[in-house]
Parts: sequence; C-alpha cells; structure tokens
Amino acid sequence: MPTSVTRAGTRRAGRCPAGTGTGGAVTPKGLAKREKMNTKPEKIRYNRIAPLYDWLEILPERLVFRAWRRRLFHFVQGPLILEVGIGTGKNLPYYPDRVTLVGVDISERMLIRATRKTITPNVLGFLTMDAQTLAFPDGTFDQTLSTFVFCSVYDPIQGLQELLRVLRPEGKALFLEHVRPESRFRGKWFDRLNPLVVSIMGAHINRPTVRNIRQAGFIVEQEINLWSDIVKLIVARKPK
Ligand SMILES: C[S@@+](CC[C@H](N)C(=O)[O-])C[C@H]1O[C@@H](n2cnc3c(N)ncnc32)[C@H](O)[C@@H]1O
Repeated sequence: MPTSVTRAGTRRAGRCPAGTGTGGAVTPKGLAKREKMNTKPEKIRYNRIAPLYDWLEILPERLVFRAWRRRLFHFVQGPLILEVGIGTGKNLPYYPDRVTLVGVDISERMLIRATRKTITPNVLGFLTMDAQTLAFPDGTFDQTLSTFVFCSVYDPIQGLQELLRVLRPEGKALFLEHVRPESRFRGKWFDRLNPLVVSIMGAHINRPTVRNIRQAGFIVEQEINLWSDIVKLIVARKPK
C-alpha cells in the first residue's frame, strides 16, 4: 500500500465528448490514445481552480453540500476506504476515526489543498492518480467513496469498472452525484446546456450515472434523491 503524500505521473482524465457522456469501456491502448487528446484540459482546469475551489463553493457547501455529505457518511464503515477525486479534501472532516483512507485525484494542486486539511493518522496517503487506471491490486478496498466526480471523469464507465475491480467482493461504493433528470423535457434541456457547462466547468450535467454504475457491474442498493431527481446519494455493491 502506498504511503507517500502525493505521487505524480499517473494517467489523467479529461472531458467526455458531448452527448450523454457514457463513453464505453476501452482498452488501455485506446484509453492512452484518448487521454493524449482529452485529459490535459481537465487536469489543467482543476489545477488552475484549486486555490479558489473552496471559496467558490463556500455558499452551496454551507447551504446544502454539508448536509448531503453527512448523509453519505452514514454509510461509511471502512475499515479501508478509497476516495476517488478527493479534490481539496472536503470530505475529510466527516471520516470516522475507525477508518483508514487513501485519497486519489488527477489534480496535484487540488491534492495539495487536501494535505493541508487536518490529517488524522488514519490517512494512509494522497496520490495523484486517474480513476480510470487505478494502481491498486484487485479487491484492495472495503469501500470506495466519491462526491461529484463521475460528472467529470472522461470515461465514467471505465472509472466505475476500476472502482469495482479494486473493491473486495460485497464491498460498497458510495456516491454523491448530479445526474441527468428523468423527465423528457428537463432531460432535453440538460442535454442542450451540457456543452456550455462542460466548456465552463468541465462537468457534464447530463450523465445517467445510476445506469452507468449498473453497466459497470455494480448492484445498486440505494438511490436516494437529495435534490429533485438531479442530485443523488447512491449506494452500490460489488457482487460476490
Ligand atoms: C467537482 S470536484 C469534486 C471534489 C470533491 N470530491 C468534493 O466533493 O469537493 C471533481 C474532482 O474530481 C477530480 N477528477 C476528475 N476526473 C478525475 C479522474 N479521472 N480521476 C481522478 N480524479 C478526477 C478533479 O480533479 C476534482 O478534484
């Protein structure tokens, strides 16, 4: 298990082509090719925004995100947890003492912020790593956790399959995600607005993330609507 605070040089993710953004599983060769074309903007964007990130989100964080994070952490059991797209470490205050955490992100500047937040002895390491190509053996973790990440991972299904791989059988993946709304009318509006939002923020607002989680091979145990059917808390399990 890695113990360093950061490790640079792993593969990076970027923006998905317009549309539903489901992508599809790709071979490592195909992925490397896509990465060359697409991953740099995403990494650059988050590196650039890192010093401002917590400030930009201060209001929604206080008004709603905190409550959503607390709700998600009811499902945290550990003992060994991988947080993917840990960003500036906004979830760190919510981890109970009994769990041991490894945090990964493609943006080293986001990670630097995370290392500055209170580090309890149960943080094993923060690593620069792409969700689509996790450098951990199969079945390493008891749980994975990610909040507002799979809207920006270039190939979400590839990333979700990686989560599945590094989880132990019956291990749980916990998510907070914003997703494409189900109604036809609102769904179409989200599709129309998506290119604009992607160009400004890099996040896709029209991803069918619950469907993607199932497609990656998980069993979805809970799907809780936190804000209409747009922001969801999802608990998924790796089959035996
Ligand atoms: C919207 S931010 C959310 C950060 C944090 N999880 C939170 O709740 O505040 C998305 C994060 O996902 C990271 N990210 C995007 N694509 C990634 C990938 N392919 N692998 C790992 N991290 C990724 C970004 O660098 C960024 O830190």
